[in-house]
Amino acid sequence: MPESVKLFEPLTIRGCTLPNRIVVSPLCQYSAVDGFAQPWHFSHLSAFARGKAGLVFTEATAVEDRGRITRGCLGIWNDAQADALRPTIEFIESMGCVAGMQLAHAGRKASTRVPFVEKGGSPLTEEDAARGETPWQAVAPSPLPVTDGWPLPRELDTDDLAEIKAAFVAATLRAFAIGIKVIELHMAHGYLLHSFLSPLGNQRSDEYGGDIEDRMRFPLEVAAAVRAAMPDEAPLFARISAVDGREDGWTLEDSAVLCERMSSLGVDVVDCSSGGIGGAPRFRNDDSGQPLTSDSARGPGFQVPYAQRMRETTDIMSMAVGVIIDPQQAESILQSGAADLVALGRELMYEPFWPLHAAEALGVDPDYKMWPKQYGWAVDRRAQIKRMNE
Ligand SMILES: Cc1cc2nc3c(=O)[nH]c(=O)nc-3n(C[C@H](O)[C@H](O)[C@H](O)COP(=O)(O)O)c2cc1C
Repeated sequence: MPESVKLFEPLTIRGCTLPNRIVVSPLCQYSAVDGFAQPWHFSHLSAFARGKAGLVFTEATAVEDRGRITRGCLGIWNDAQADALRPTIEFIESMGCVAGMQLAHAGRKASTRVPFVEKGGSPLTEEDAARGETPWQAVAPSPLPVTDGWPLPRELDTDDLAEIKAAFVAATLRAFAIGIKVIELHMAHGYLLHSFLSPLGNQRSDEYGGDIEDRMRFPLEVAAAVRAAMPDEAPLFARISAVDGREDGWTLEDSAVLCERMSSLGVDVVDCSSGGIGGAPRFRNDDSGQPLTSDSARGPGFQVPYAQRMRETTDIMSMAVGVIIDPQQAESILQSGAADLVALGRELMYEPFWPLHAAEALGVDPDYKMWPKQYGWAVDRRAQIKRMNE
């Protein structure tokens, strides 16, 4: 393999070695039943292991029942749910990939319709009960709706917070019991932990709200408790919304403060996403203060500058995500030092063999040696065509 290709350089974090720098971003499938993984989840996640992504994250996996975004979301609030995921995790590991789990609580964005139905993504109402989707009470730092027309969440008291923290810890223990090697805490996209961080979601007057120190208190308590429950050799990631993109929202400066604090309590990697706190972002997701246009919003690598900023200004490793499509683009992000890892979502759903194609394109695997042995006939044929065209 050409020595200079970073995308396929293994990365050791604590005692865990990722075989390459390609990460499957968490991808909700809205296809679970009562939080239980179904054959779809096995099929979906094992495809990425066949494609040889270095680290395969599960979708946002709820630590408690009321913390699901929809009734179709995965859960790990009991042992039987964890057991249902075990064959998937074992398969991922058997392919030489590393299995990770994103632990999540939807907070005030819970109790919504799965995307596949009419008005998908909007809050459940009593009308949905008839088809088995009864709404439930969402919870949040403060009784503020996500946006106009959404129901008011119930404000969490300190007993509730202790219960949720314990649910994150219990979920972590279950995850390791089924062979998960990496945990990612979902602190982004307006879900519970993000809504504590952002002044747009948190208007509490107790020690969990107020200035940034107080708003960070609960997410940091959760991170510390999860870290303490994990084996020392296992990496802990946190996905953040590096900016809210809204007036008076969470900023890149705030993210740098959070990352310093997370790093000192044992979070190893920050996964830099953005937005989602509620309503449409109004500003470009950088410090320019420029208004957001559809062109500036989501171009290739649009969130890479956040990963770069966190990596340059804090001690934490960073992962870039968002419209990373092309192998050369992914390689340049790593070569530039902007990030230690790249996560792909939609492009990997479109082409789960992306890592193997990237290995070919970057000259790392010209002879298709990385492909699963069962597919040897397929790649022999490709090699033959290649030779004929030379
Ligand atoms: C269908 C779908 C489901 C997603 N589910 C999650 C999720 O469970 N957790 C999360 O943090 N982000 C989730 N995301 C965001 C992706 O992980 C990723 O950050 C985003 O799609 C940008 O990366 P991409 O351009 O490579 O798709 C989801 C995105 C899509 C399209």
